[in-house]
Amino acid sequence: MLRVEGVSKRFGGVQAVDGVSFTVADSEIHGLIGPNGAGKTTMINLISGFLRPSSGRILLGDREIQNLAPEVVARSGIARTFQNLRLFPNLSVRRNIEVAESHARDGGDPALVGDAIERFGLGPVLSLAPDALSYGHMRRLEIIRALALRPQILLLDEPAAGMNPEETEELFRNLLWLRERHPCAILLIDHDLKFIMSASEMLTVMSMGRLLASGLPQDVTRNEEVIRAYLGHGETV
Ligand SMILES: Nc1ncnc2c1ncn2[C@@H]1O[C@H](COP(=O)(O)OP(=O)(O)OP(=O)(O)O)[C@@H](O)[C@H]1O
Ligand SMILES: [Mg+2]
Repeated sequence: MLRVEGVSKRFGGVQAVDGVSFTVADSEIHGLIGPNGAGKTTMINLISGFLRPSSGRILLGDREIQNLAPEVVARSGIARTFQNLRLFPNLSVRRNIEVAESHARDGGDPALVGDAIERFGLGPVLSLAPDALSYGHMRRLEIIRALALRPQILLLDEPAAGMNPEETEELFRNLLWLRERHPCAILLIDHDLKFIMSASEMLTVMSMGRLLASGLPQDVTRNEEVIRAYLGHGETV
């Protein structure tokens, strides 16, 4: 459904993304991992229209989307969260969600967002300002706000960052619930390999802007380059 074809992005002297290709199929949970600076966030920025690739194509179905504005990409079915959280600080939690819902693609299931609020435990904090929330709640709010757009593809940039192991485990169960409730593909970036390995049906690994491997997790983690990239950063897959 989503095809990234030979995409590159250069910032001045930094080749942040270097000829990367991979695909995300309908309704799959697809992990995207790599050491710091690998180009993961840049990839999400490229897919969501926040950045233009220097070269290459990004296709949603048959449509090229790499030159569309972010709001057009969102309307065409790709929603995202931000690694550094971008909630509307002057709006309540409820209004943050409602603003997103007012931009939802088609009507869809009217109960979806309410059910997600309950499932993600945001019911009791709806009237608060985002900065009154715990970090874990802020991350959950970002996910629900993206879900409120009723996307075909959800891009999640480190949704478990700052969460403890129990919260991460709960997030994992909630993402499975979400995908059942609103069938969509999820492209998931995280540094928590246990979380990524248990959640991902497909896995893509980047390092220093390049694609190291993309495929089934059990195949990708046997790839020599992947092992080297991770051992080089003191982690084991
Ligand atoms: N707007 C920008 N201007 C200049 N350089 C950038 C910009 N955005 C990213 N970079 C550089 O591009 C490279 C890839 O960064 P990116 O944020 O995509 O990595 P990442 O894989 O998301 O890393 P992390 O795991 O730390 O979030 C880094 O060298 C970064 O410094
Ligand atoms: Mg990043």
